[in-house]
Amino acid sequence: MIWIVDFGSQTTHLIGRRLKRCGVQAEIISPQDLESRLQKERPSGIILSGGPNSVYAEGSPSVDKTLFAKGIPLLGICYGWQLMAHLLGGKVVAGQAEYGPEQMTFATNLFELPNATFSAIASHGDAVERLPEGFCCLASSEKVAYAAVADLKRHLYGLQFHPEVSHTEQGQELLAYFALKVCQMKREEHQIDPDELIASIREEVGSRKVLAAVSGGIDSTVAAKLIQKAIGEQLHLVYVDSGLMAPDTRQRVEELFPNVHVVEAQGRFLWALEGISDPEEKRKLIGHLYVVLFQELAEKLPQIDYLAQGTIYSDFIESSGTDHASCIKSHHNVGGLPKEMPFKLLEPLRYCYKDEVRELARQLGLPEELLAQHPFPGPGYAVRIRGAVTKERLERVRKADRIVVEEIERAGFSKQLFQCFALLTGAYSTSVKGDKRHFGEVAAVRAYTSEDVMSSEVAELPYPLLRKIVSRIMSEVDDISRVVYDITPKPPATMEWE
Ligand code: XMP
Repeated sequence: MIWIVDFGSQTTHLIGRRLKRCGVQAEIISPQDLESRLQKERPSGIILSGGPNSVYAEGSPSVDKTLFAKGIPLLGICYGWQLMAHLLGGKVVAGQAEYGPEQMTFATNLFELPNATFSAIASHGDAVERLPEGFCCLASSEKVAYAAVADLKRHLYGLQFHPEVSHTEQGQELLAYFALKVCQMKREEHQIDPDELIASIREEVGSRKVLAAVSGGIDSTVAAKLIQKAIGEQLHLVYVDSGLMAPDTRQRVEELFPNVHVVEAQGRFLWALEGISDPEEKRKLIGHLYVVLFQELAEKLPQIDYLAQGTIYSDFIESSGTDHASCIKSHHNVGGLPKEMPFKLLEPLRYCYKDEVRELARQLGLPEELLAQHPFPGPGYAVRIRGAVTKERLERVRKADRIVVEEIERAGFSKQLFQCFALLTGAYSTSVKGDKRHFGEVAAVRAYTSEDVMSSEVAELPYPLLRKIVSRIMSEVDDISRVVYDITPKPPATMEWE
């Protein structure tokens, strides 16, 4: 077993997942439990995760220095490496920040990587300026001298970038090397298994009743189908028509679940959102309203104990799901939920990533269109309108979005993308329409690839396609004065603007 000490990185869980992919078992533990666990057990290796803190910040999570003298192979990633350097007498300094893809160059091929130079995702403000005694440098980037380091005698390794993120080239190979060669672990195969999930739902729910919220997206559909298989008639389904979703969503839900309860709530959402422009406030408000509506429906049904949602791991972690993690955005179905809930939560996909959900959908025999469908955020167009939501802006973003989706589909690019959409930026600019001055809103277009939501790369859409999208939005959507194409990857940018 490899232990992953979680210092609050957005991608800690991904480390475990990459290890699983190379057939190695891993467990995430919190820094405060490390000491007591080490008194009873000895793992094959330990990975110290990244995290949002600086080693100099008061109260930043740490470990006991004796950890490094135990002979257990150790890999520090980002904050984990900085902490190791700091505790062992190296020097960590602010500056040399890197946020996003950076070129790494390995001078020594200790990790047996196919390529000495590759692109890796970095995300840090501090960096190690002086190595602790016994360490040697393996790789550097343009800004950071010690991007990969090792103390071979003590089996200590450090990386200033994130090998666990799918957009880090050769990241999987790096972690595999650490687990299989340095920690000498044996490979065991592991595949996501719907039957295991179904059995655990059955065990948790017993004879109680569940209300499952479905949105037409793959996550909630897979969750509801698993629950249906586990408990059959004890399951009730609800779709809330918030008026914020893509136009064909309700029809799709009714086709997938003919017995779904549909709650009409377009007016209530618009009324509640009036004048609210802060993204966090919007998400929380939407999360609350959803729960109020579920509660109103539940009162008309036989005793409901659980509310089931299709929450996946990335929703959870971005909403500050672990002890030391930062809250990036309170996803409406996690951080947006009211503190006091009238239901227990049932979230069978809580520890799954998007690509695992797709794999489950395949195994459950769900329609191909669902598998190919792009994700749509639960708060819908409300988080694609920078600033306050009005009926007019809702109509505007919906029209612009349709154009983006249609044109990208027509050009045959949809399948290669994770998501593509239009949003209203809340910025205004001058244009000339029909020989008249027009001062209207700037729309932005986003299109990117991603495997597991935690990182994404912007799609290099052909210029003629982008021109077509711009031309159609400018002529078909009222009050748009300009269209921009956002080419910022995640990290550092998130996919949605809000
Ligand atoms: P970000 O913007 O965080 O988005 O990079 C990652 C994925 O999550 C979707 N998203 C949400 N989904 N509730 C959801 O159900 C939310 O509050 C929410 N915010 C973002 C986003 O569309 C992307 O697929």
